[in-house]
Amino acid sequence: MAALVTLDRELDAFFAQIEKTHRERFLESPPPHLIDLCSNDYLGLAEHTALKAALHEGVDIYGAGSTASRLVRGHRDVFAALEKKYAAWVGAEDALFVANGYAANVGAISALCDASWVAFIDRLAHASLVDGVRLSGARKVYFKHNDLEHLAAQLAKHRTSKKIIIGESLFSMDGDFAPLSELGALAKAYDALLYIDDAHALGVYGHEGRGEGLAPSSVTIRMATFGKALGLEGAMLATSARLKKYLLHKTRTFVFSTAPLPAIAHAALTAIDLAQAMQTERRAIAENAERLRQAARAGNYSYGTSASHIVPIICKDESAALQLSAHLAAGGFHARAIRPPTVEISRVRIAINARLKENSFVRLCEYIRTAKPC
Ligand SMILES: Cc1ncc(COP(=O)(O)O)c(C=O)c1O
Repeated sequence: MAALVTLDRELDAFFAQIEKTHRERFLESPPPHLIDLCSNDYLGLAEHTALKAALHEGVDIYGAGSTASRLVRGHRDVFAALEKKYAAWVGAEDALFVANGYAANVGAISALCDASWVAFIDRLAHASLVDGVRLSGARKVYFKHNDLEHLAAQLAKHRTSKKIIIGESLFSMDGDFAPLSELGALAKAYDALLYIDDAHALGVYGHEGRGEGLAPSSVTIRMATFGKALGLEGAMLATSARLKKYLLHKTRTFVFSTAPLPAIAHAALTAIDLAQAMQTERRAIAENAERLRQAARAGNYSYGTSASHIVPIICKDESAALQLSAHLAAGGFHARAIRPPTVEISRVRIAINARLKENSFVRLCEYIRTAKPC
């Protein structure tokens, strides 16, 4: 009983706090009348007729579920075919398909590292990367966001042979790119592994949308998810064939979890073909992002360090971000307020996607240009 009473008190305090600080969250379906500015469906593939047909077909061929871990009875040849196709696309030797990006990051990092490792991780890295380090027991050393000097100083301080640098190629809440080549050079100079999360760049950047990868020789593991630009779910750990073999044995989120739906893997083969061909859409997304930044400048809004299709409109506090989100909703746009603890400074994160029509986009820019600064 005492535990229940204590928990109840803690919940009361927590609920009072999130209400007071405007950090309460709610689950709601996307309002159908609002134009999507906040999903990660950057290429619009989640609604693509060919992709939906491929998913249906996958269910018809493979059934509704995988029935077990891939190491038991959950594996199907279609997973291997997808891994091969994906590895060829991104220029890696091999790849391992995992249920989602969170499981991939947590599982792979904790499979690679243990308490004898030091993990150097960008201060703004995604929660799944941080949680992977936590679970591994490795010593966690943050370096300032995209700050190579700070990273080099931290690397120089730790004289262990077991070092890993962990970061993202494109940061999901700020929309800025990591200096990947320089990270690769530092990893080489300090003899560290390099783990890059390419979740938000896959499909949108690089040759045929292959993401912001470095040469495979510079990155030990490159993780990317199928839940964003590829319009599905699931994730890939692209790496060497040898390391894949190790991960297959040691990634607990892979070993001890039911395999993803084979139908997803079947559809993902189509998603890759579609994404590869969407060069025109990629160009339009980049151009629109630049036009939106111009509108934000004209409206006296800061968009931080954004240089990609992710454009955060920075707000002075949680309440201001909620107000801007409501203002955009009144104009017919769905853009969510992102608040602490997800980010340090509240913002409305706008993600440009390929489904955005020119007339809606022009209206959005006008809205941003003329909205009251928050
Ligand atoms: C940078 C980054 N890595 C990993 C993930 C997790 O991927 P998934 O949604 O496939 O679990 C996300 C998405 O939330 C992300 O933004």
